[in-house]
Amino acid sequence: MKQDDHRLALYPGSFDPFTLGHLDIVARASRIFDEIEVTVAVNTSKKHLMSVEERCRLIEECVADYPNVNVASFEGLLVDHARERGAVALVRGLRQVSDFDFEFRMAFANRRLHEGLETVFLMTSEKHALIAASIVREIHHWGGDISSFVPEPVLRALNNAR
Ligand code: PNS
Repeated sequence: MKQDDHRLALYPGSFDPFTLGHLDIVARASRIFDEIEVTVAVNTSKKHLMSVEERCRLIEECVADYPNVNVASFEGLLVDHARERGAVALVRGLRQVSDFDFEFRMAFANRRLHEGLETVFLMTSEKHALIAASIVREIHHWGGDISSFVPEPVLRALNNAR
């Protein structure tokens, strides 16, 4: 394969924590693109459950079965990171119609900043359509069972941190 034909897509997000819904999107995207980078955003203004390093380490464990998926963190504008990495697309997961408003605005902003970078929306499996990291954080905070929301490595890490 020529180097130019290698199609890298970034799957950016906060992933705090990485959920089964995120894993479902990774699986779908990995079948479409040659390589997927799960791109963990460093956002100093948000209060996080886990550090960026820990999120990256856990996501690496969760995606170990996908040889064309890797994990990286970035700080700054996503389009700058995409240019640096030579990515052709951004992947974002859609769970429900209400996600679309924010996603639509973000995709247009990113396109204005980087015309050659496409945003590709993938739908999660129905069974993960109601999982949101914020809800998982809330349930975990109050000691609830999050085993049906997150992959095994994330569950272990969060339970150990109690
Ligand atoms: O999982 P999230 O929190 O919905 O992900 C949002 C994320 C990290 C993709 C977005 O906030 C982002 O790209 N941040 C980096 C800064 C940037 O490039 N902002 C312009 C896009 S509107």
